[in-house]
Order: sequence, then C-alpha cells, then structure tokens
Amino acid sequence: MPFNFDLAPQRRGTNCSKWDDVAASLGIAPGDDLLPLSVADMDFFCAPEILDAVRGAIAPGALGYRHFSPRFGQAVAGWMQRRHGLTVQPEAVISLPGVVPGIAAAIAAFTQPGDGVIVQIPAYPPFMNVTRDMGRTLRENRLIEREQDGVLTYEINFDQLRALAAEPNTRLMVLCSPHNPTGRCYSREEIAQISAICAEHDVFLVSDEIHSDLVQRGVRFVPALAVTCENTRVCQLGSPSKSFNTAGTHAAYMIIPDPEARAAVRRVFSSMHLPTSSFVSEEVVTTAYGPAAYYPDELCAYLDGNIAFFTETMHAALPGIRMTHPDGTYLVWADFRGCGVPADRIYRLLCEKARVIPTPGYAFDPQAMGYLRINLAMPRAMLKEATTRIIEAIRDFNK
Ligand SMILES: Cc1ncc(COP(=O)(O)O)c(C=O)c1O
Repeated sequence: MPFNFDLAPQRRGTNCSKWDDVAASLGIAPGDDLLPLSVADMDFFCAPEILDAVRGAIAPGALGYRHFSPRFGQAVAGWMQRRHGLTVQPEAVISLPGVVPGIAAAIAAFTQPGDGVIVQIPAYPPFMNVTRDMGRTLRENRLIEREQDGVLTYEINFDQLRALAAEPNTRLMVLCSPHNPTGRCYSREEIAQISAICAEHDVFLVSDEIHSDLVQRGVRFVPALAVTCENTRVCQLGSPSKSFNTAGTHAAYMIIPDPEARAAVRRVFSSMHLPTSSFVSEEVVTTAYGPAAYYPDELCAYLDGNIAFFTETMHAALPGIRMTHPDGTYLVWADFRGCGVPADRIYRLLCEKARVIPTPGYAFDPQAMGYLRINLAMPRAMLKEATTRIIEAIRDFNK
C-alpha cells in the first residue's frame, strides 16, 4: 500500500525546533494557527520500519554505550550503488553526528585559522557560520541568477571560482548539491569543472549531498565522487535525515576515500572525545537504506505534486513573483519584490498577517532582502492553507 503523505504527525509540544516556541522567538502573537515553513525537516510520518528499528534498539531496556559496527558503512555503500550508481568501499565511510559537524571537522583537518573557505552564495547559513566561527576567511562564490517568465535558475560563476581558488590561502570549498536554498542539482560537467579547479589549486572539496535522494522527476543526481575519482582531496557527506525525516537521530556520514584524509578527520573527533554516532545511528541508516528504501521515491512523487501546486498557484495569483522550480530538495527560493510589498516588510507580513513562517532570504545572503525560502514538505491540505494565506496577506496589503 502506498505511504500516506496526506497525514501529519502532531509535533507541537514535543520540543520541536520547527513548531515549538516559534511565536516567542519572533515576537509575534502565539497561537495554534501558526504554520512553520522554515526548518528543513518534513511534516510527514517517518517510515514505520525506521520507527520499529528505533523501538528495537531500546527494547532490551538499556541505553548504555554501543559500538559502531561495519553494517553502517555497508548500508551506505549499498545505497550509493543502488541509488546513485556510485561504488564506495564501506571502510571509506565515517559515521557523523551530523553533516554540519562533518563539514566543521573537514575544515579543522584541512585548513588553518585565517585560511580561505569557498562557499557558494546564497548558502545554507551554517556553512558561513562554521567558517567564521572557526576563524577561517569566507570566500563568497556568488551564484549567477537568471530569470525567464518568473522562473529563477542559478549558475556557477566559474571565473570567480577560479580566482577565489587561486588566492594563496584558499584551502577548502564547500559544495552543496542539491543546493540549499536554490534546489539546483549540478551536472556532471559542472562538478568536473569544480573538481578540476580545486585540484589545480590544492583546494579540498567537501560536497554536502544531504538532499541527494530528493530530486524531481526527470532529474538525475550526480554525486561528487562519481566525477572526482582522480582527486584524493575530496569527500562527500550525506544522511537519511532529509529524505527519511530522521534529523533528530543524528545519524549522518562522510565518504572519504583517501585513507590519510580519513584519518585526519577521525583525529578531529577523537581529539575532542566526541562520539560520531548516536544510540540509534546504525538502526536508522541500515533500515532507511534497507527495508524503508521505498520511502524516498514515494515521497518525491508527492513532493513533485506539492511543488507543482505551489509554483502554479503562486505564479497565477502573484504575477510579480519570481521563484525557483527546484531540481532537488523540497525548498522553493522566491523573490517577492515584484509583489507590491517592500523588500524589508515581506517576511514580517507573512509571519504576522498570514501566520506562516518561511525563512528570510537574508539568512542565506545579505543581498537577498525580499527573498524567502519556503519549505513545501507537508501534507497537501496544509500547503494549500499556507498558500492561500500568503496570497491573501499580500493582496490585503496591496488593497
Ligand atoms: C545543505 C544542508 N546541509 C546540512 C544540513 C544539516 O545537517 P545536519 O543536521 O546533519 O548537521 C542541512 C539542513 O537543513 C542542509 O540543508
């Protein structure tokens, strides 16, 4: 029987980052009517196989230390082969407590304070925060925005990337594919060019592919390691957290084929005595990439419908809007500046009047005032309600 994505779990009152304490943090009136379209997790039930596996882990009644078994790396390698046609040695897989901690560990292992780290802007905010918090220099490779008939697309500025990589102290690049927030999936040619630029200038390439199982119909995702196999200074990060909605279980991984580079990343975690897996990492990863493997395809089909509904409805109701029709992710990146609301008011208008909470564009790019990132991973009825409220709030403002 197909999975029912029309049902939402009740997450309010569960210490949920997305649903709880939202009003207080924004200084707006509290209420059960608030609809968050922000934090990148999903308002769908988890696959029952994963929930059963987590229950199974606690069934003996003890929550003591656990060791990390080879099944984890084998499950990741099997998934990479079946889903992305990528051959990975299980021993190249390091478990992580999260993808962002993995990026931080790579920065610690392969750069020194003051060194340059290339990030493509607009960017998932932790890429910029981690770089700055670790005392490295952020080198912004700004994506080139194009528009046709209200649809936004983004291309890599390769001339700028070459110049940034050539800076003497640039040591690492964080690539994000599918890209958050624009939803771009980079082509084989684009990744090959990035890899060649990084190899030429001895820049370590860190590819965050956390959204890679979430691609729209007809799009082929290309993992960095499928293209960069000649380059030893590369690693790929992933997790079932986006496509199986398991972010709170802290089960993520890095695939890092070069043994020396792998040892360097391991040393970062061991120097802090930091566990790289949670109590249920192994159950989550082996079950997601095993008995629950049907879930992302059914999910993507449902998300295709959500993306089509949202983009068609918004373009029809608000002719001035410009937005992505993403290749991957469940995120839409939208420029509301043509909708009659001042760029510095749209976010608060939607929070206060529509009572929907997107993520403001300036979190991803200080120049993106008037842009919003909207998470569409929710039951269609909830999305219809949010869409109607957004449109009505903007129409009321323009009356
Ligand atoms: C591109 C990207 N990387 C990493 C993360 C977070 O990963 P983790 O929670 O495993 O650190 C997110 C979450 O939204 C993301 O969109």
